Amino acid sequence: MAMKISKAAVIGSGVMGAGIAAHLANAGIPCLLLDIVPASLTPDEEAKGLTTDHPAVRSRLAAAAIARLGQTKPAPLYDEAFAGRITPGNLEDDLAKIKDADWIIEAVVENLAVKRELLRKIEAHWQPGTIVSSNTSGISINAMAEGCGAEFRNHFLGTHFFNPPRYMKLLEIIPGETTDPAIVDGMKSFCERTLGKGVVVAKDTPNFIANRIGTYGLLVTLQAMEGGGFTVEEVDAVTGPAMGRPKSATFRTLDLVGLDTFVHVANNVYDKVEEGAEKLVFETPQVLKDMAARGWIGEKAGQGFYKKVKSSEGGSEIQSLDLTAMAYAESGKISSPSLEAAKAAKGAKEKIKALLGAGAADRYAGLAWAITKKTLLYSAEKLGEIADSIVDIDRAMKWGFSWELGPFETWDAIGLRRTAEQMEAEGEAVPAWVKEWLAAGNESFYRKAEAEGMGAVSFVYQGRYKEDVPPPEHISLRGLKERNKAIRSNSGASLIDIGDGVACLEFHSPNNAIGADILTMIRQSVDEVQANYEALVIAGEGRNFCVGANLMLLLMEAQDEEWDEVDAIIQVFQNTMMKLKHSAKPVVAAPHRMTLGGGVEVCMPADRVVADAETYYGLVEVGVGLIPAGGGCKEMALRLTQADPDPEIDLQPHMNRVFLNIGTAKVSTSAHDAKRLGYLRPADRIVMNADHRIYEAKQSALRLVQAGYEQPQPEKIRVIGADGKAVLKLGARAMRDGGYISDHDLLIAGKLAHVLAGGDLPAGTMVTEQYMLDLEREAFLSLCGEPKTQQRMQYMLSKGKPLRN
Ligand code: NAI
Repeated sequence: MAMKISKAAVIGSGVMGAGIAAHLANAGIPCLLLDIVPASLTPDEEAKGLTTDHPAVRSRLAAAAIARLGQTKPAPLYDEAFAGRITPGNLEDDLAKIKDADWIIEAVVENLAVKRELLRKIEAHWQPGTIVSSNTSGISINAMAEGCGAEFRNHFLGTHFFNPPRYMKLLEIIPGETTDPAIVDGMKSFCERTLGKGVVVAKDTPNFIANRIGTYGLLVTLQAMEGGGFTVEEVDAVTGPAMGRPKSATFRTLDLVGLDTFVHVANNVYDKVEEGAEKLVFETPQVLKDMAARGWIGEKAGQGFYKKVKSSEGGSEIQSLDLTAMAYAESGKISSPSLEAAKAAKGAKEKIKALLGAGAADRYAGLAWAITKKTLLYSAEKLGEIADSIVDIDRAMKWGFSWELGPFETWDAIGLRRTAEQMEAEGEAVPAWVKEWLAAGNESFYRKAEAEGMGAVSFVYQGRYKEDVPPPEHISLRGLKERNKAIRSNSGASLIDIGDGVACLEFHSPNNAIGADILTMIRQSVDEVQANYEALVIAGEGRNFCVGANLMLLLMEAQDEEWDEVDAIIQVFQNTMMKLKHSAKPVVAAPHRMTLGGGVEVCMPADRVVADAETYYGLVEVGVGLIPAGGGCKEMALRLTQADPDPEIDLQPHMNRVFLNIGTAKVSTSAHDAKRLGYLRPADRIVMNADHRIYEAKQSALRLVQAGYEQPQPEKIRVIGADGKAVLKLGARAMRDGGYISDHDLLIAGKLAHVLAGGDLPAGTMVTEQYMLDLEREAFLSLCGEPKTQQRMQYMLSKGKPLRN
């Protein structure tokens, strides 16, 4: 069922309500945001002479929440202007307006009585067909809807977003007993496609999936810690990246969430499960009670398991809590063969194997085993109760807690049969279904699917393997390569057949930095597509699309003063981009996440960009003391000419903005922001779901083919010339005088101004693309000879961040 949601209402404008409203606005859905009417005036309102009857006072909570969106970090909105899509109101004067919404989301305090009462009020204005959902963290959906009408209950379900809603991929959908299955399916596909979420379907049990297993995992970690006398820092060293989990590991995460919130969530399970081993685990540990009694509840209280203190040198340092002494102390470096082995191993599977493989004599391996074992067993025990599918449990933990592997994937990785036997030998109760599964001769929960679907796997489902063929929108390059669909490949990139006459160029060098191998593959791809395919897509599946050109070789040549070599490197880059631009077949680039410097220059020649909404896009070469010389400056100048072909139009104000963006190495905070900055063109598309990106790029490419694609011809660029350059340089000078940029920045800005302005020609002169490329190359070469530029490159290579010198 296709769900049509063009307007929404969110009730409750706290952390979650405001975040959800913002994300709906991100998706282009106008949203009403309601909250309670405040009981009293703020001093500010009093000073203005307002009364509690004034509309601005009555809707203050929601209005203030919207106003805060612009200051919240990380930014909830793709573009601050999207706040205008959210209308504030209050529950007393504006509730009737919810009748215009297609989806009403309740996100008020976690209290059954309050939520129930609110549902009754919503029902009074409810229009047949409208979806109503609750964003509860763990209250029963069925209990909440008790007493509501049957038709209303058919349209009611749980939609549990994770905080912050824009960034956390997980959305748990919880159908109630009477929710119409068509509505569950429709909402699942709507939330995946339009909101870009990863949806899992959970059962109506306390805390649903991720928080049920997550809190259990944390509580058994505390037990194992106490049992083995481990410190806070030791536990975090083991339970972070070494186990394929985020750096915030156990206690930094807990500090961030807040001990009070955590205890509240854990109590929700404690109150609802039957007497027995599970209930005992969910009983609040004494140490958390002791910390809560002192008010040490985490970051919001300034201290929890960690505390930031002033160091003797005047800076600050992080101390950790010694749980025996209940005092904070500086901690030492933690190391062991198991941790070192995990660090050296590549990928989460190998890391956890290395960590556990160090053997019982290594105490950290022992701790990791104790925690892993309990978490795997609990996940297996809860299958069927909290979710029907192991895939949903694995995905919930990956998308909601940022684990790299879900529990069942972890169990497969460490050897299902062997470790299950070990658990039994250690006196653990391995769930019957797991034993039956093993007895039937199976060696893993997942296996490669027989089906031809891209990236398909099978997994255990109700006692047998079930094929899981991903929807057509999920194109998996890895899956295709496993099925021998790579057309050609080298150390940095591959060209893969993604079907329907479209080939996809994927970068896979470290950090996807562009080197000679990638450039070669780009040229070969253009030729291959010209000969045998209809269109080319450029996309990848790495953490980032591309962080720029590989600086290592460049720096070495520059330090050796091999200027001909440097010149040749840039020429190859420029020529490759021009070949891509003038490809006889359409090219669509599909960037995601970090797309910087050369990464942007690879996208610029494409006919279309289909960007993931979370794309951080910018020409950042100035950060390493250079200017864009792979056609980045030329393309920006060309775009201004194309946007305003009328020779009378003054390009200077537009060029000032381009100059500022490149000169300050500005990076967009989203793909929408990249449009606002002029890096993406109006016709470029933005995709909400990162998993659909390659498919959407392919569709765009096919549409270009169908529209009768014509090979692009060389174009002329109208330059702002010497006068325009003087204006740009004046701006840079003012920034230097104001102390915003360094002398070296000013030098680079001068060269950048020269390139963008088209040199010293009269304003309005029409120049060729090659003329502009030559200017880029000349400026780039001269900057490579600057010691401060070389320092910047060196610093970036060793530290991974820019040096301001
Ligand atoms: P919050 O405390 O930031 O916001 C709660 C909102 O409810 C406030 O705007 C408050 O004015 C409003 N409210 C209070 N009493 C009310 C009443 N009687 N009637 C109507 N509105 C009332 O809380 P937060 O964190 O936004 O949580 C909201 C819901 O989302 C809760 O059910 C919570 O369990 C759930 N949740 C919270 C997550 C989080 O990380 N904070 C994550 C996922 C779900």
